[in-house]
Amino acid sequence: MFGLNRAKKTAAVVAATAAAAATALLAAPGAVAAPQPIVGGSTTTTTAYPFMMQITDASQNQFCGGTLVSATKVVTAAHCMVGETTSSVRVVGGRTYLNGTNGTVSKVSKIWINPDYTDATNGDDVAVLTLSTSMSYTPASYVSSSQTSIYATGATARIIGWGTTSENGSSSNQLRTATVPIVSNTSCASSYGSDFVASDMVCAGYTSGGVDTCQGDSGGPLLIGGVLAGITSWGEGCAEAGYPGVYTRLTTFSSLVTAQVNS
Ligand code: ARG
Repeated sequence: MFGLNRAKKTAAVVAATAAAAATALLAAPGAVAAPQPIVGGSTTTTTAYPFMMQITDASQNQFCGGTLVSATKVVTAAHCMVGETTSSVRVVGGRTYLNGTNGTVSKVSKIWINPDYTDATNGDDVAVLTLSTSMSYTPASYVSSSQTSIYATGATARIIGWGTTSENGSSSNQLRTATVPIVSNTSCASSYGSDFVASDMVCAGYTSGGVDTCQGDSGGPLLIGGVLAGITSWGEGCAEAGYPGVYTRLTTFSSLVTAQVNS
């Protein structure tokens, strides 16, 4: 989805850019740059991540990601589903390339949007889709509400998607993945102020930026230890120094998701 990032804070961006330039000038020869992404990262496949679903329009144009959590249930972001109806969306599994025609295309029989959702920067950014056609791909397991310690600062999280590979760039035809460290709530609050709602969000990224989710990755998974622990939600630009990606803190919504998975 587009247009959900915060308006640019020009002064902050200029400062961050100046800081990044200074860092670059001061970097020792041979210093190792942060790994490159979906900004950085590398190409992958839905064979490697079989639960990775494209959320598309009725013409199978991808606009968000989703995670298969059972044969007929897909977890995505609420902001991806705003304005959508069961007839306007499809879920595509087993399709590594945006321009592919393979895999399984399912219609959606129900869209559950967290009833508390208003805007990604207010939290509650979770939705569950019920598929009309079962997906034969291995689903991901997702966190239980008690697994709150999974978001330990510095823990390695995996992000996956077809989103843009630079802040104002184009989507990736092939699925991409990268790893990013979990950022502390204190640090994320200093980046984003009151838009960071710690109960509902978790941040991930390098201090220096460079690796991040971006437009079109929304709704897709943040995995920790291979378990679905977050949903790509929002951020200031993409991969900017000092502005990590913000993900839905799934432990907070695990029981709500389970109610939908079992419905
Ligand atoms: N809102 C974007 C989307 O709908 C995701 C943005 C993620 N941004 C970030 N810097 N991590 O696709």
